Amino acid sequence: MTVSDMGAYHKLITDSYDKRSKNYGGNSYNAHHLIDNAKPNKGDNVLDIGTGTGIAAFHAASYVEKEGSVIGIDISKGMISEANKRLKESTFDNIRFEMADAENLIFEENQFDRIYCASAFFWVVDKEKTLAHWLSFLKPGGVVGFHAWPEHSYVFGQVARKVLMKYGINYLHHSPTGNKEKCLELLHESGYSNIQIIEKEEGDFMSLKEAKDSWINEEHYPLAQYPHPVTITPPEILEKARIDYNQEMELLNTDKGVWNNTSFFFCYGEKNKNA
Ligand SMILES: C[S@@+](CC[C@H](N)C(=O)[O-])C[C@H]1O[C@@H](n2cnc3c(N)ncnc32)[C@H](O)[C@@H]1O
Repeated sequence: MTVSDMGAYHKLITDSYDKRSKNYGGNSYNAHHLIDNAKPNKGDNVLDIGTGTGIAAFHAASYVEKEGSVIGIDISKGMISEANKRLKESTFDNIRFEMADAENLIFEENQFDRIYCASAFFWVVDKEKTLAHWLSFLKPGGVVGFHAWPEHSYVFGQVARKVLMKYGINYLHHSPTGNKEKCLELLHESGYSNIQIIEKEEGDFMSLKEAKDSWINEEHYPLAQYPHPVTITPPEILEKARIDYNQEMELLNTDKGVWNNTSFFFCYGEKNKNA
C-alpha cells in the first residue's frame, strides 16, 4: 500500500484544495474535451468525480439538458462550496454537488450513463479497485472517462523518480498510469471493454534554473503516496539524489532550455452492454 494513513493523505488534499478553491481556474480545455470525446446524450445521468468547481459538470449538464441530471462530487469542502456558488449564479437546475470520497461512493448500481473524472484520477490510491467500484454505478453500455498522465510527463517528476530510484526510493510520480498499455490494462482488469486511450501531446521549454528549482520537497504533494517519500529519506541521501538530479537536468538542457513534456491521456472504457 502506497498510503499508510488515508485520513492524513486526504487531509493533505483537502487542505490544499480548500485553500485554492476561491481562485481555482482549472483547465477547461482538458475537462471539456474529456466530455466531448464521449458525449452524454439528452436525458442521461452523469457523475463527475473530483468535480472541483464543476467545470466538467456544467459542460455535461449542457448536453443532458433538463431531461437529464449531473452529480458532481469532491472531497474538498471548499471546492464544493465554490461549485455551489457557481451553480446558484447559473441557470442550471439539473446539477447537484456533494462532498464524497471518490474511492468510497454510495450510489445505486446501474445509475449513470457517463462517469467522468477530470484531472483528478492521479489522486486515487487504489486505481484498479476504484475503477471497478465506479463500474458498478454505470448502466450497461455506460462509459467512464478520465485523464491520466504518462511517466514521461513533467520532466521534474520524471527525473526525480529516476534519481531517487537509484537510492531505493520509489517516488511514484505518474508511474501507475505510465503509458498507454498500463492505462489499458487498468481499465481491462477493472472490467471495462471498448477501451480507448487517446494521447494529447503537448509541452514547452523551461529554463535550466527553473528545472533545477523544481526539485521535489514537502510542498510537492506526492500523488497516491503518504507519507511523502522525501520526509522519510535521510538528508544525506536526499542531497546525493539532488546532485544527480541537477546533473540529469544539465544533460537535458538545450539552447532553448529543458523540454517539459506535459502530454496526457484521455482514457475511456465501457460497461459491457450485457452486464
Ligand atoms: C486538479 S483538481 C480538478 C478539478 C476539476 N475536475 C477540474 O477539471 O477543474 C482535482 C480535484 O480532485 C479532488 N479530489 C482529490 N482526491 C479526491 C477524492 N479521493 N475524492 C473526491 N475528490 C478528490 C480535489 O479536491 C480537487 O478538487
